[in-house]
Amino acid sequence: MGLLATLSFLPSVLHLEISNTRRTLASLESANYSVRASRPHHAQTPPPSSYAEQAFDINITELVRRIGLDDDEPLTEQPQVPPAPQPSPVSTLPPEVLSHIFACCIPQEQFPVPCSTEAPLLLSHVSGYWRDLTLALPHLWTALHINYKDPASDIAFASLWLSRSGNQLLNLSIAIDFNERPQQGIIDVLCRHAPRWKHVRFDFRHLFCEPMYSLDLAQNNIPNLKAFEFHARDVSNTNVWPVTHLLSSAPQLREITWVDDLADTDTLLELPLYNLTHLSLAMDHGSLDYLEVLEQCENLEHIRISRPFSHTPAGREPLVLPKLKSVNISYDLTNVLDHLVLPGLREVMISSDGDKQIQVQPHSYSQSLPHLPPLPHAYAEGPVPASASTPSIAPSEAPVDGWDPTGHARTLLAQDECLASLVGRALRAAG
Ligand SMILES: *[C@@H]1O[C@H](CO)[C@@H](O)[C@H](O)[C@H]1NC(C)=O
Ligand SMILES: *[C@@H]1O[C@H](CO)[C@@H](O)[C@H](O)[C@H]1NC(C)=O
Ligand SMILES: *[C@@H]1O[C@H](CO)[C@@H](O)[C@H](O)[C@H]1NC(C)=O
Ligand SMILES: *[C@@H]1O[C@H](CO)[C@@H](O)[C@H](O)[C@H]1NC(C)=O
Ligand SMILES: *[C@@H]1O[C@H](CO)[C@@H](O)[C@H](O)[C@H]1NC(C)=O
Repeated sequence: MGLLATLSFLPSVLHLEISNTRRTLASLESANYSVRASRPHHAQTPPPSSYAEQAFDINITELVRRIGLDDDEPLTEQPQVPPAPQPSPVSTLPPEVLSHIFACCIPQEQFPVPCSTEAPLLLSHVSGYWRDLTLALPHLWTALHINYKDPASDIAFASLWLSRSGNQLLNLSIAIDFNERPQQGIIDVLCRHAPRWKHVRFDFRHLFCEPMYSLDLAQNNIPNLKAFEFHARDVSNTNVWPVTHLLSSAPQLREITWVDDLADTDTLLELPLYNLTHLSLAMDHGSLDYLEVLEQCENLEHIRISRPFSHTPAGREPLVLPKLKSVNISYDLTNVLDHLVLPGLREVMISSDGDKQIQVQPHSYSQSLPHLPPLPHAYAEGPVPASASTPSIAPSEAPVDGWDPTGHARTLLAQDECLASLVGRALRAAG
C-alpha cells in the first residue's frame, strides 16, 4: 500500500524538482564545499595535519551523475543565481552533519517498507538541496522490503532504489505471491545486486507447480550473504530447490531462518548447515528428524525450533553440539533435548502456543537465587548425556560458573509442574 502511494507520488516530485535542481547545483558548485569531519571551529588554531586526510568533499560531478542531469548541457554554463532568501537555521548545516542526521532518521526495522512519509523518501521531498544530498548518500538506501504486487511499478521502483544504494551491502526482503506464474522480472532486479546481499528474506507463496523462477544471476555470486530467511507457503520442492542450491554457494552464510509449511528433512540437509551459527526452523505440517539435521550443524550457537513434530527413533546415540549457547524450543518438542549433549548451553527458552515463555538464564539465576546448592561435581566436569538420570542434588566443592540448572528446574517445578518437568529435561541437557 505504502509502495503504491509512493510510486504515484514520485514522478510528480521528480518532475517538479528537475527545474530547480540545476540552480541548486550551480550554487553548490560555486560554494565549493569542503567539509571536514566534526572539527571545532577555533579560528586561530590551525588543524593538525591529519585532518586534511579526513576531509569530506562533496563531488559535484558525482552528484550530477547520480541525479541524471549530466547527459545534456554541461554545468559550466551556469544559469543566473537569484538573490538567496534568508536561510533557515537548518539549511546552514553543512552536508556532512546533515548526512549524519539523515542516517538517524532511517527506520530501525531490518527491512523497512518504503513510505513517502518516512526517511529516506520523505527527506528527498523537502527541498532541492535535501533531495540532492539524500540521493548522493548511498547508506540511506541499503534496507528495503518490497511487497510485490504490480510488475510495472514495483520493478521500476526497486531498480531505482537499489541503484541509489551505491556499493553498500544490502538488507533486502521481498514478498511475492506467484499465483503459480513466473515473476522473473523482479527476481532479476534483486539478483543483479547479489554481490552486495547481506541479509536477505524471501517470502514466496503459491508455487505448487513446475519450476517457475530462477536465481541463476545470483548463483556463485553472493560472497557477502550472512543471513537468509525463507518463508514458503504452498511451494513445491522443485521451487524450493533454486533457493537451497543458491545458498550452497554462500561462503559467509551463518544464519538461516526456514519457515516452510511442508517440512522435509532432505530439503534441510541441502542447506550449508556446517558453517551455521544460527538456525531457526518453523514448519506447520509433516515431521522432521531434527537429529539428522543437527548432526550437520557442528558450529551452531543458537537454535530456535517451533515445528513440526519430531521423529527421532529411540536408542539414538546422543549428539554433542559443543558450541550451542541458546535454545528456544516449543514445549512439545523438548524430547529432542533428551538426545543432545550441550556443554556450552547458557540459555533455554521454552515457548508454548499461548506464547507463554519460560526463560532460564545463568545470570538471573545467580542473582535471584543465591542460596540453592551448587552443581553436582559430575556436571561441572564436562558433557553428560542429556538422557542421564536426574542427579541427586548434593553439595560439592567444584566451582560452578554461576549457574545451577538443576536448582533452577526445582524452583520452576514449584511454579508449574508440567512445564517445569520439561525445563528439567532441557536443563539436564545443559551438562
Ligand atoms: C575549489 O577548491 C579547490 C581546492 O581548494 C580549488 O582548486 C578549486 O579551484 C575550487 N573551485 C572553485 C569552483 O572555486
Ligand atoms: C568525482 O566523480 C567523478 C564521476 O563519478 C569521478 O570520475 C571523479 O574522479 C570524482 N572526483 C573526485 C575528486 O573524487
Ligand atoms: C541489516 O540488518 C542487521 C540486523 O539483522 C542490522 O544489524 C544492520 O544494521 C542492517 N543493515 C542495514 C544496512 O540496514
Ligand atoms: C564455510 O565457511 C568457509 C569460510 O567462509 C568457506 O570457505 C567454506 O566454503 C564454508 N563451508 C561450507 C560447507 O559452506
Ligand atoms: C522463541 O521462539 C518463539 C517462537 O518460536 C518466538 O515467538 C520468541 O520470540 C522466541 N524468543 C526469543 C527470545 O527469541
